[in-house]
Amino acid sequence: MEVLVIGSGGREHAITWAVARSKKATGIYCAPGNAGTAGLAENVDIKADDVDGLLKFALEKKIGLTIVGPEVPLVMGLVDMFEGAGLKAFGPREDGAQMEGSKVFSKNLFKKYNIPTAAFSEFDNSRDAIAYIKAWNKYPVVIKADGLAAGKGVIIAQNETQAIAAASDIMDRKIFGGAGEKIVVEEFLEGDEASILAFTDGETVLPLPASQDHKRIYDGDLGPNTGGMGAYAPTPLITPAVLEVIKRDILHPTVAALKSEGINYKGILYAGIMMTKYGPKVLEYNVRFGDPETQAVLPLLKTDLVDICLACCDGKLKDIKIETENIAAINVVLASKGYPGDYEKGVEIKGLDAFNGMNDMIAFHAGTAIKDGKVVTAGGRVMNITALAPDIESAIDKVYKNIDRVSFEGVYYRRDIGRRALKY
Ligand code: AMP
Ligand code: GLY
Repeated sequence: MEVLVIGSGGREHAITWAVARSKKATGIYCAPGNAGTAGLAENVDIKADDVDGLLKFALEKKIGLTIVGPEVPLVMGLVDMFEGAGLKAFGPREDGAQMEGSKVFSKNLFKKYNIPTAAFSEFDNSRDAIAYIKAWNKYPVVIKADGLAAGKGVIIAQNETQAIAAASDIMDRKIFGGAGEKIVVEEFLEGDEASILAFTDGETVLPLPASQDHKRIYDGDLGPNTGGMGAYAPTPLITPAVLEVIKRDILHPTVAALKSEGINYKGILYAGIMMTKYGPKVLEYNVRFGDPETQAVLPLLKTDLVDICLACCDGKLKDIKIETENIAAINVVLASKGYPGDYEKGVEIKGLDAFNGMNDMIAFHAGTAIKDGKVVTAGGRVMNITALAPDIESAIDKVYKNIDRVSFEGVYYRRDIGRRALKY
């Protein structure tokens, strides 16, 4: 079967890598892909949000399975269009993608179906929001733009002045454009976070090992937010008993709630979980694989990814058993100097064959491209150096012993990825 992977980041390299190990996949395309996917698949020069172009290509090539990496094409209704044309696409339809596409939608769903989450109110004008904030007295408080804002739409305000400024920036100054037509003002939850990526066909829910992202740019979780500077799995924060609670109180009720609303959700349901002193609460859902969590989680997956995705598309996930390696995985992001601010592109990357032939180290590409026969940087997050080991402590050790074998001028990475695992 021909498989098409949509996207161009580290997540998509990891998905392509897992598809390449599948017995089912006879040909793999990646649109638009990066220099890493080019080694495993045929890159196709169609952007991830060019839904018409992707559909035309998939029909031409008789693609048997399309796996969608980023959220934007899902929210645009890519899956509806592919299915309408008789093609199988892994991911929710437009209705289900609202879980990530609209915070007002997902928060109201949690409220209606008693799914544990932060208390909140929604607003469609800044005057009411500001009046509400003036009566609020518990800081920090969280202000969220309703729509997609490339991961930047959440502002944690430390005091009333910041909260009012956030509400006004989002709704009046439209710093996130149309994503700021509405906002959610919600209670700040204290605790440690985990990412649970689960497969679902709208009925059965099968989670992958829980992971932890590291969103801030600097060690010790300091500095501005990024797309994610590294991840590891499984995280000991989520014990088997806690996972059962999350399945019972959060994941299963969510899929059932969506069904009650007439939404048959299939694909990845990625729960951002806060472990509070009152138990796990859902911060939000994403409707796709996480980046960089996927680069830690998929290397642990023993079951054929194509089989799982097809079972989700066909409503047959109950027939699948997900098996994972009983080891730990970690990935550390090599970023361009200046990221998440401005950075240079086109810098040559050296040492890319350092891990060739090794099965416990993988260099997943993120923002890379091929220029004049050389692999160069093409984004802020450039590579995910990934290590597998029997336990997280030795995985951390291995990744940092080997990380400098891949390098480029101005490379920056965090030195404390995974260290949190050792404190649980
Ligand atoms: P995302 O929308 O996934 O980019 O994530 C926003 C981040 O904001 C989460 O991962 C949390 O770290 C933080 N966050 C969101 N909502 C809350 C909340 N109610 N309390 C505390 N932190 C939050
Ligand atoms: N790791 C955060 C995200 O994928 O949104």
